[in-house]
Amino acid sequence: MTLKIAIAGTGLITRVHARGAQKIPDVALEAVVNHRPESMATFAAEFQVPRQYANVTDLLEDGNVDALVVCTPNYLHAPQSIAALEAGVHVMVEKPMAMNTTEAQAMLSASKKSGALLMVAQCWRFSPEVRWLRDQAAGGRLGSIIRTKGYCSHVNRGPGGWFTQQELAGGGATADMAIHALDTARFLLGDPQPVSVYARIGTYYNDFDVDDTSVIIVNWDQGTTSYIEAGWWQPHSDEAQAAAQLYGTAGFGRVFPSYLEIPDADKSEVQCIDSGLPPVDEPPQRERFNAQMAHFVTCIREGRQPSPDGADGWLNMRVIEAAYRSAETGQVISL
Ligand SMILES: NC(=O)c1ccc[n+]([C@@H]2O[C@H](COP(=O)([O-])OP(=O)(O)OC[C@H]3O[C@@H](n4cnc5c(N)ncnc54)[C@H](O)[C@@H]3O)[C@@H](O)[C@H]2O)c1
Repeated sequence: MTLKIAIAGTGLITRVHARGAQKIPDVALEAVVNHRPESMATFAAEFQVPRQYANVTDLLEDGNVDALVVCTPNYLHAPQSIAALEAGVHVMVEKPMAMNTTEAQAMLSASKKSGALLMVAQCWRFSPEVRWLRDQAAGGRLGSIIRTKGYCSHVNRGPGGWFTQQELAGGGATADMAIHALDTARFLLGDPQPVSVYARIGTYYNDFDVDDTSVIIVNWDQGTTSYIEAGWWQPHSDEAQAAAQLYGTAGFGRVFPSYLEIPDADKSEVQCIDSGLPPVDEPPQRERFNAQMAHFVTCIREGRQPSPDGADGWLNMRVIEAAYRSAETGQVISL
């Protein structure tokens, strides 16, 4: 049976998700939601979307959709997702899933109550390179992972508009970018629980009321420490827009580019093992977004819990919130 998907928002990431949905057999882009009619009409024509709505309430009143993909500014994520979940419509919501953990918790509760699925679009989990490194680490190739280093930064550029307004975004580069590096580190480690967070966060490159720079240290319950950098308008970034590195007792592994360095027993030689995967271009990279959408659709069809789900998104929000608190107080925040 055809699965009918609605999309809220008509911006940059909406188009990426729409293209992903169009690649899946028996999936129809059924409706689009935006308060701006012209923008919605352009989007509907581009993707042949039959129904257009000014808001999610009107969409849900008409019904006849199975899922909603929420790609609006962050302050709309919780209300739009909760409305859909309460109507029994499955939701994939963009990151950060909400403005704070209270909203994230309400989204989780709505999903549990209605049984509709809640997935959070942490797209790096669907990158073939990230999955390759996760498999190497899970297979023990690197020994015990002692620390991870990761970043997600825009070099000499950054967003404007609602992204830089606290009341619409809930935070700056930490909420927007660090959450990617954080989620990737956690995924590579097999989804441990955070136990404490320390952060320095500030605004140095522009005159707006959200942060543009953050350094975060997370201690995980299995003993690993993650060091995370994020920012907009940064003067430099090591390689691509994002990267993650694992330092284990038996070797080193990284993504973007993706390879392992495994020293022999007496450390005299190092074997370099390339993933063999094609190098990624700068984002937006379609492959991971297409795989993400395919996972959402498969979970709906098979009635299984998506990964990452609402609980993973909530946990990310918890760390981000703790990072802001740590930066304000100068204290390590225990979770
Ligand atoms: N996973 C990723 O790599 C990635 C990349 C980009 C953006 N995002 C996330 O996706 C979300 C959207 O980001 P974007 O870059 O597409 O932003 P954008 O500003 O390009 O698009 C936002 C869209 O929401 C629409 N909108 C605003 N108010 C609305 C309302 N009341 N009802 C319906 N639509 C409304 C806007 O008109 C616009 O079309 C953000 O949460 C962002 O963090 C994720």
